[in-house]
Amino acid sequence: MIELKNITKEFSTPRGRLSVLKDFNLKIEAGTFLGLEGKSGAGKSTLLSIIAGLQKPDAGQVFLGQPQVNILTLNDKELSAFRNKNIGFISQEQSFLENLTVLDNVRLPAFLAKKSSTVILNLFQHPSKEIPKQVRNDFDVKITERALNLLESLGIAGLAKSFPRDLSGGENHRLLIARALMNNPDYILADEPTDSVDSEQTQAIIKIFRRLADEGKTILIASHDKEALKLCDISMTVPGSNR
Ligand SMILES: Nc1ncnc2c1ncn2[C@@H]1O[C@H](COP(=O)(O)OP(=O)(O)OP(=O)(O)O)[C@@H](O)[C@H]1O
Ligand SMILES: [Mg+2]
Repeated sequence: MIELKNITKEFSTPRGRLSVLKDFNLKIEAGTFLGLEGKSGAGKSTLLSIIAGLQKPDAGQVFLGQPQVNILTLNDKELSAFRNKNIGFISQEQSFLENLTVLDNVRLPAFLAKKSSTVILNLFQHPSKEIPKQVRNDFDVKITERALNLLESLGIAGLAKSFPRDLSGGENHRLLIARALMNNPDYILADEPTDSVDSEQTQAIIKIFRRLADEGKTILIASHDKEALKLCDISMTVPGSNR
């Protein structure tokens, strides 16, 4: 479940204070696939990043989980750990580790969650092309299989050994989605997830989100894409600023 209580967020801009969210309340039950719409600049991305704990509101509370955790009370370290375990955040500004292959970029969150320096070393010392032969342990096998399945479901398994710089915009975007799903998070927050992918891939991406929602995950997407929005359970319009 996600619960936002009285969220207020302002930015100072050259033209003065901009109020983006004012006393904003939202409650989303687990298993909901929610589409956020609203005009450009309404505050959709701001809202997603507040829920992901990447930005703090000026006032209000953000509760996630069962039992509920007020993420604004967590310190940086606790928040990072909470986010890595529970939240899959997909934003277009995110980037990859350029020296790691596509496969290793997807595997990375699993290693970070495991917090094992030996496993991390293992990742960096063994390029993914050697992994099938040089698997070190069950954990490696499990996460490699999961990462490959995710890449497969997003139609980019053939790029597993490529490097991010060699990917198109749409392929990059699908890689972001695969990485966000790696740790099987309960909350998936996606900012324009079908931007720069074709209609067939839009359907594939939405189908993955649909299945995850049916499994009890909470999915929020911010989108201008009518095709994607109509496949959500419900959609709501972010009210927008005072400009
Ligand atoms: N760090 C910031 N400093 C100043 N203004 C900001 C900042 N971040 C966002 N804004 C402003 O807040 C408003 C909401 O931005 P946001 O990115 O959340 O909109 P959006 O609904 O996601 O728009 P789009 O559909 O174009 O992605 C915009 O007017 C934006 O210019
Ligand atoms: Mg946005």
